[in-house]
Amino acid sequence: MTDRKNDLSHHTLLLGVMGDPIGHSKSPAMHNIALEASGIPGMYVPLHVKPEQLAEAVAGTKALGFSGFNVTIPHKVEMLKLMDELDESAVCCGAVNTVVIQDGKLKGYNTDGIGYVRSLKEELNSELSGKHITILGAGGAARGVVYALLREQPASVTVINRTVDKAEQLATEFSHDTLQVQSGSYDTLDKVLAQTDILINTTSIGMSPNSDETPLEQSRIPEGIIVSDLIYNPLETRFLREAKSRGCTVVGGLGMFVYQGAYAYEYWTGQPAPVSVMRSALLEAMNHQKE
Ligand code: ATR
Repeated sequence: MTDRKNDLSHHTLLLGVMGDPIGHSKSPAMHNIALEASGIPGMYVPLHVKPEQLAEAVAGTKALGFSGFNVTIPHKVEMLKLMDELDESAVCCGAVNTVVIQDGKLKGYNTDGIGYVRSLKEELNSELSGKHITILGAGGAARGVVYALLREQPASVTVINRTVDKAEQLATEFSHDTLQVQSGSYDTLDKVLAQTDILINTTSIGMSPNSDETPLEQSRIPEGIIVSDLIYNPLETRFLREAKSRGCTVVGGLGMFVYQGAYAYEYWTGQPAPVSVMRSALLEAMNHQKE
């Protein structure tokens, strides 16, 4: 077998992820294994870029012949301004997490929300049409999820947030003729939950190192519904653990990370992403970090 890393040629697909910091990113491990599994000569590298050098770095990727890159904290919003073209997903989410470079032009996408919804459907082995869906949180992550859910013909989508104004704003922005997105505060939540099929946490409450926190007391989680958390560290949050003990079906956030990457991979390579290989690589990288 030839050593792919020592066999760089002009056919090599150059990819990467820009962030600050970037050392912790699991994307290189996940994408390099995917490229290898698909037999595509390519490399995906971590790119540590400071905010004040973002524009130069982006221009540099074009000059260096990159085919695309991912974008992570803190550059996702700023990246909007540096694109030649924006996909609807990036416009609606107000953030770019994936850039495709073709014919010298940069096109920005957001695959976070659609990645999450694809993983939710896969893990539930079910469509989302006709479902009543409630979302906790109204930040950037919630925007992506609402954007993607509205393409699935749910019966209702309700956004609950600590700062109610933000929930209202998000709901107004995403409402359209066929579906009014609802909004509310945690005080109105119990009434909303009585009619909820799927409850999704998009807040950071419960994320490591604060894994003893939860966005909703256990006694308020309706029995037997579907409960999901975008957080993937820990793999099972307190929220999901407690939902399980209420007889709920639970879906964690690991799939969102895998599928946001899978969409990006498919945009760059034009080939189906080897999703199970990517999931294993991600889990392995997470285990390594703990050692
Ligand atoms: P992200 O891009 O990850 O969504 P964000 O835009 O900062 O991050 O949004 C974080 C979301 O989590 C917000 O909806 C926030 O509520 P507020 O709008 O009221 O700030 C929510 N959130 C974070 N910590 C929270 C807490 N302790 N209690 C309730 N909501 C919280």
